[in-house]
Amino acid sequence: MLMSFKTPNLVIIGYNAIKSLKDVVAWFNCLRPIVITDPGLVKAGVVKQVQEVIRECVTEVDVYSDIESDPSIHTAVRCAKAVKEGKYDLIVALGGGSPIDVAKAASILVTNEGKLEDYLGIELVPNRGLPKIVIPTTAGTGSEVTNVSVLSIPEQKTKKGIVSRYLFADAAIVDPGLMLSVPPHITASTGMDALTHAIEAYVSRFSTPWSDMYALEAITIIGKYLRRAVMDGGNIKAREKMAIASTYAGLAFGNAATGMVHGIAMSLGGLFNIPHGVANAVMLPYVMEWNAISNLEKFGRIAVALGEYVEGLSPKKAAQRAISAVRELSNDIGIPQNLSSLGLSEDDLEQIAKDAMTNVRQIAPNPRDVSFNDVLSILRKAL
Ligand SMILES: NC(=O)c1ccc[n+]([C@@H]2O[C@H](COP(=O)([O-])OP(=O)(O)OC[C@H]3O[C@@H](n4cnc5c(N)ncnc54)[C@H](O)[C@@H]3O)[C@@H](O)[C@H]2O)c1
Ligand SMILES: [Zn+2]
Repeated sequence: MLMSFKTPNLVIIGYNAIKSLKDVVAWFNCLRPIVITDPGLVKAGVVKQVQEVIRECVTEVDVYSDIESDPSIHTAVRCAKAVKEGKYDLIVALGGGSPIDVAKAASILVTNEGKLEDYLGIELVPNRGLPKIVIPTTAGTGSEVTNVSVLSIPEQKTKKGIVSRYLFADAAIVDPGLMLSVPPHITASTGMDALTHAIEAYVSRFSTPWSDMYALEAITIIGKYLRRAVMDGGNIKAREKMAIASTYAGLAFGNAATGMVHGIAMSLGGLFNIPHGVANAVMLPYVMEWNAISNLEKFGRIAVALGEYVEGLSPKKAAQRAISAVRELSNDIGIPQNLSSLGLSEDDLEQIAKDAMTNVRQIAPNPRDVSFNDVLSILRKAL
């Protein structure tokens, strides 16, 4: 069996890992770093904390924070313009997936002549970007270890990704200490995003024993610690475990891809601005129900990883335990259980299914073949 595994050059994880940022910045021999982040992180004091560490090796560090959640392609273009005009030579991406993805996109737009739209798709970026250090502040997207930047395109009411080897972080620093201020509902939805990455990567057609190792470990950790991280946000152990799990899940799906939970979630984000984590969290058990028959054994192992006792059960019953365990977890942490509670109705479903069928990057790895009618029937069950 031929296997490969893609990762950034360096990943440092653990409580207080942020202290190593000054050494990492120094390695790049850069004079003008810029922190790319969002207003929530400025308000939470996280940006100040990171600026202070950078100032230990570079006297001046500017901040760009004009970035919304689930950001648009125009936000990334504006950010790239600011980076280019300011002649910055190192990007420090700080935040959840939103500022990280904008920073990743800006890094390549500064060094490439084309429009950002030209690079939507797989490996279409001609030149390396500016160096970037990526520091996640949510335990969710895994963007710190993936070669993807996901942006919304408001004119087309859709979300699409740029996939390029030049989008990998040059270094990632994952410090749960920066995640202590994440409010419970965001801890919940981003944690479910990480669980979705791990589960979709584990059952993906592109999975390998190598990606499975990270995926299964991430599922196990999230099953044990997500409730605690939501209920007791100051619990450093729970935050650290979730930070590790979300990075592992990022490594898993960065190599094995995601499936139709993400395929549908991207459409829910593009069409109705539903936050990425919430969209995934709502759709996860419904898509698992549809997919389980394609690989009962693996779904049974997901149940075990989530702490379910499956001895003596048929493979089908064991697989069902994985789905009920996911439902119980998401219910416990306050995730809405269906699409109606997100304000959607039957009239919206065809449009969602149609857009979801354009997400080929999610359709191909999904373990079970899906058609437009299949997606529609999954959505009807999820309503
Ligand atoms: N590139 C990838 O591999 C990848 C993977 C999955 C998702 N995504 C994308 O990531 C985006 C979502 O990212 P997200 O779920 O991390 O949410 P986010 O980045 O939009 O953040 C959500 C909110 O949490 C706040 N926040 C973040 N960290 C905080 C902290 N430490 N303290 C207080 N508040 C904090 C932010 O200010 C923001 O208001 C979506 O656009 C999604 O499509 C990308
Ligand atoms: Zn995701």
